[in-house]
Amino acid sequence: MELNGKCVLLGVSGGIAAYKMANVASALRKLGADVEVIMTKNATQFITPLTFETLTGHKCMVDTFDRDFKFEATHISLAKKADVILVAPATANVIAKMAHGIADDMLTTVVLAAKCPKLVAPAMNTGMLENPITQDNLATLERYGFTVIPSESGVLACKDVGSGRLPKEEVLIEHILHTIARPKDLAGVRIAVTAGPTQEALDPVRYLTNHSTGKMGYAVARAAAMRGADVTLIHGPTALQPVRFTEDVPITTAQQMHSPEQGTSAKTTSNTSVKEVKSAGSLFVTTTSAFPHFIKFSANT
Ligand SMILES: Cc1cc2nc3c(=O)[nH]c(=O)nc-3n(C[C@H](O)[C@H](O)[C@H](O)COP(=O)(O)O)c2cc1C
Repeated sequence: MELNGKCVLLGVSGGIAAYKMANVASALRKLGADVEVIMTKNATQFITPLTFETLTGHKCMVDTFDRDFKFEATHISLAKKADVILVAPATANVIAKMAHGIADDMLTTVVLAAKCPKLVAPAMNTGMLENPITQDNLATLERYGFTVIPSESGVLACKDVGSGRLPKEEVLIEHILHTIARPKDLAGVRIAVTAGPTQEALDPVRYLTNHSTGKMGYAVARAAAMRGADVTLIHGPTALQPVRFTEDVPITTAQQMHSPEQGTSAKTTSNTSVKEVKSAGSLFVTTTSAFPHFIKFSANT
């Protein structure tokens, strides 16, 4: 299990999306993590501490001055125990407090005391999120080393349409995995992975292709990204979800895979190509069957 031996501390504040964190706590336990949960007092209006206590097997902390546990400074012991803290949903209020070092409840006190990586997933009404005060507070948190997980757009609980929705549970979990699941022993290494089929047009209607699903290349790219590599995933048409924490380069033909600038469908921000990555002398892994098979390790890796 990917999170065996790791402690994940979830900080739940008083937003309507708080209920989603029960699924996150449960999924993290299934991945082997020791899960601790701290709620703000207002969060208990949306979901009960009992839910988290049942799912995690730990007392859910709310009150800084709660004496109903073995004698220790819980805010310090939790801060030291956590390998990562995820504050989700993070209300505008809690974001503002964390950005300014306010520690007036258990959650904000532990966040201030902790030295581990801290992830923050804002979730709120679009007006609250887009308010320059909230934006400034999020920028401040990033400046202090917090990772802000962008909220998603869609229909919000208040019926407004816009940004501010808490990302899906699997997205939050992927961020935790990326942060602590694997040692970052590939940090600084650039890796290009090719995956999926290519399509070669015979005429405007028909094309030659193969049965490649892209699954192997996507799995290689994900594993390398988890280990801290700078991964470019160059892939033909697949039915797979993009791999987070990689640069996604969609292509259609083998020629575009080699040099996207020669095709019309390879729109990339960096115009990365196999040719370019190879010449940079980095690690190159191809899992694409329509392209010559080779794995090249260079002196730089
Ligand atoms: C039904 C309801 C839903 C709310 N949802 C959110 C929300 O999604 N995000 C947010 O920032 N505030 C939301 N609020 C406002 C917060 O609960 C309020 O700002 C509170 O003081 C936050 O406290 P906390 O940050 O200590 O948890 C909501 C309030 C109500 C009544």
